[in-house]
Formats: sequence, C-alpha cells, structure tokens
Amino acid sequence: MDAFKMDGKVALITGARRGIGLTIARTFANNGARLALIDLNSGELEEAAEELVSNGVEVLALPGDVTNSEGIKSITEQVIKKWGKADILVNAAGIHDHVQIESLTTAKFKKMLDVNIMGVFHCTQAVLPYMIQQKSGSIVSVASLAGLRGHPTGASHYAASKGAVISFMRSVAREMGEYGIRANCVAPGMVDTAMIEGYTKEERENYARSIPLGRIGKPEDIADVIHFLSSDASSYVTGQVLNVCGGVLMA
Ligand SMILES: NC(=O)c1ccc[n+]([C@@H]2O[C@H](COP(=O)([O-])OP(=O)(O)OC[C@H]3O[C@@H](n4cnc5c(N)ncnc54)[C@H](O)[C@@H]3O)[C@@H](O)[C@H]2O)c1
Repeated sequence: MDAFKMDGKVALITGARRGIGLTIARTFANNGARLALIDLNSGELEEAAEELVSNGVEVLALPGDVTNSEGIKSITEQVIKKWGKADILVNAAGIHDHVQIESLTTAKFKKMLDVNIMGVFHCTQAVLPYMIQQKSGSIVSVASLAGLRGHPTGASHYAASKGAVISFMRSVAREMGEYGIRANCVAPGMVDTAMIEGYTKEERENYARSIPLGRIGKPEDIADVIHFLSSDASSYVTGQVLNVCGGVLMA
C-alpha cells in the first residue's frame, strides 16, 4: 500500500485560494483527497475550486475568515454534513507585513495574532471533536523560520505569531496523541508567493545567496512536505517542526 496516497480522505485547507494553500490543494488532489477549500470570500477561491473540479476532484469552496470562530465551526459542520468526516486540516492562511518594533502599534500586533495564531486555534478546535470521534487525524500548520529564530527584516509580530503556532501545535500533539491525532508544523524560509511581493529583486537575490541550496523556495517545495506530514507516510511523526528552507536553519 502506498502510504502517501490520500484516496477518499477529507482535507480542510485554509488559505487555499492561492500561493502555498492552493499548491497544497493541487498536491492532495493528485493523491486522491476530497477538498474543503477555505479562504476569504473571493472570486479566486471559486476559480481554484473550478480548476480542481474540472480535473475530477470532489471540492467544496467555503468562503470564511479564520478569525471568526463561529464561522469556522459552521464551515466544518458543512464539511461533515457533506462527507461525514475530517481526516486532515492544513492551516495555511496567514498574513505578513514589515514594521520595525519602534513603530509597531498594538492594533497591528493584535491583527497579526488574530489571523496567524487565533485562526489556527479556531480551525484546530473546530475539527478536533470529529477527529477525536474517529480516533484519527492529521493537522499541519504552516509556521515560519521566523517563528524559530526571529524575523531578520522587521516583522517581530509575525515572528511572534508563528512562534505561537509552533508551541500551540506541540501542545495539540501532546493532548491529542491518545486519540491517534497528529499535529505538526512546517517552517518555510522565503517562498515565492504574493506574500513576498514587497521584497525587491536585489533583496531576494541577497537572501538566495545565503541559502545552502542557493534558491528561494517554491510553493511545491512546501506542499510536498505537507503532503508527507498529512499522509499515513508520517504516521509515527507528531509534535515536530520540519524546516523547509533550503538548509538556512539546520536544527
Ligand atoms: N511566502 C513565504 O515566504 C512564507 C514563508 C514562511 C511562511 N509562510 C506562510 O505560508 C502560509 C501561506 O502563505 P503564502 O506564502 O501562500 O501567502 P499568500 O498571501 O499567497 O496566501 C495566504 C492566504 O491566506 C489567506 N488569508 C489571509 N487572512 C485570512 C483570514 N483571516 N481568513 C482566511 N484566509 C485568510 C489569504 O487570502 C491568502 O489566500 C502563511 O501562513 C504564511 O505565513 C509563507
């Protein structure tokens, strides 16, 4: 049996309209999963769903805001109503911006935490009752190298939010292990998506020179590792952070 296959599995993916989230959706689809795509209300979410449906994938496009716990609960109920289970949750929704600590406002810091860690909490809490009942489940959250080593170019609130994601997921792994539920993180370095469009070509090239593998990440690099962590191929892996960063951080 191929432990990487996801035939019939139901996966909820946040941040799924573009970037890393959409690439995860395509990767899971290629491996047979049924997909609930969650993102802010947008034509792009529908377009993503249409692309997958046209390739024969079973998809639900569910507009929603991860900061809204009631909304996320109701989205999860829709998934259960449709497919009767929730095997995988990938928390990929997130925001990022650059502000030096001296200029950082409380409002900006809170907004960052609201999306990047409270969003992970809401989605995780929403799927857990079903995973506990099933006695199985895999939750993967997209953290960041910044959550492990601090942010090098002025996004301390982003780094703090991702550090919180890592420690929260480790606690989920500890509390939920007895139900066969696994919880892991990936920590990407810089990945070529809309999130880094604020970086100049020169900044990207400078960063790439500091990477042992000599290039910035592609969404596929991250999606492939999340596929491993979400599938039965990693059935004895929980509470881990896998750095997907071309070797920038070796720990
Ligand atoms: N691109 C990078 O360099 C990089 C590096 C490390 C970690 N990450 C993380 O990877 C994840 C995916 O980011 P990406 O690079 O694909 O960027 P992206 O901006 O393309 O994708 C983020 C997605 O999250 C969605 N989102 C934002 N706020 C939301 C909310 N409140 N509710 C629902 N959806 C919301 C956005 O609409 C968007 O589709 C994020 O968690 C990000 O922090 C990215």
